[in-house]
Amino acid sequence: MSAEIRWGVVGPGRIAESVLPDFAHVPHARVTAVASRSQERADAFAARHGLERAYGSYAEILADPEVDVLYVATPHAQHAAFSLAALRAGKALLVEKSFTATTAGAAEVIDAARRSGVFVMEAMWTRFQPVVVTVNELIADGAIGEVRSVQADLGVSREYDPVDRLFALDLGGGALLDLGVYVVSFAQMLLGTPQRVVATGSLFPTGVDAEAALLLGYDDGRAATLLASLRQALPGQARVFGTAGWIDVLPRFHHPDTIVLHRAGADPERITRPQTGVGYAHELIEVTECLRAGRTESAVMPLADTLAVQDVLGRAAEQLGVRHAEGTAASMAPFG
Ligand SMILES: NC(=O)c1ccc[n+]([C@@H]2O[C@H](COP(=O)([O-])OP(=O)(O)OC[C@H]3O[C@@H](n4cnc5c(N)ncnc54)[C@H](OP(=O)(O)O)[C@@H]3O)[C@@H](O)[C@H]2O)c1
Repeated sequence: MSAEIRWGVVGPGRIAESVLPDFAHVPHARVTAVASRSQERADAFAARHGLERAYGSYAEILADPEVDVLYVATPHAQHAAFSLAALRAGKALLVEKSFTATTAGAAEVIDAARRSGVFVMEAMWTRFQPVVVTVNELIADGAIGEVRSVQADLGVSREYDPVDRLFALDLGGGALLDLGVYVVSFAQMLLGTPQRVVATGSLFPTGVDAEAALLLGYDDGRAATLLASLRQALPGQARVFGTAGWIDVLPRFHHPDTIVLHRAGADPERITRPQTGVGYAHELIEVTECLRAGRTESAVMPLADTLAVQDVLGRAAEQLGVRHAEGTAASMAPFG
């Protein structure tokens, strides 16, 4: 891998637009190309962000030898088929959350990544926020004793629009995959993979979940209680409870800059760690540095955790009666 890591963007939608400016804070990285299903959209995105090459199909960016890693920002059900084709083309990947629409899809991509020895990471930017790093350090230092429980909520009030990716079943819509992934990933980071998942909630007419409440259970009695909703705004607060205190992660916990540490018997301590850029820079730096070091996985967001989180989401979706499936290459216009 060259000293400079050359990035390509796939799916120039809302999040790609927000992430691109944060590359200004990533040393040794350059975004060189974008691929869209439409040449016009690719050209417009490239012009806005000063990119050298704009492709009107996803196949073309896979054939570009001057792209080392692709940032995949398509809808959830459009991650797996593209990622498999990209791995066959030898491209490293940063895949937006949720990693895939199904557990089987995640397992297939992860197997392919491990077999090919090509780097893949889920874009779970929460884990890279400086104050989340501090939470992990405090817990490792015993600041709140043994972590026994996590609470987290994330919700937005979105007007129902059956063709928007948030509500469309064939695009992996629903609260669980869009927002639930954050609460589940946060709990999984702190408590590990649960033995039991109990979910309740409601559906939109398209068959995707509108809201979901999850209870994650562990054989040793630890637990997480989690909420995700597209029907109502929720504060986006997380709390981590230990045997010797607790930590409040102030809203919105999926990209926080402030926590309040409550050590048993001590005054609350407010700790702020600002993000770089909008907060996406940290995950982009991680991928760039992993590639420069020749790693095939991130230690902060390992593929085993991605698979465990996807499995929890899949078990919850099943209980709610949501039938997600992976999209085919045809849903992204045919590619290689
Ligand atoms: N990290 C974060 O803060 C954050 C925030 C929002 C979203 N996300 C994640 O980013 C991903 C994309 O979300 P978004 O809100 O940016 O979605 P979006 O605005 O709908 O953009 C997705 C893009 O994917 C491409 N695409 C490929 N196949 C498609 C298909 N069959 N139908 C529709 N679009 C298709 C489209 O671009 P072309 O047709 O031009 O190729 C579209 O612009 C999701 O995984 C989401 O969870 C992350």
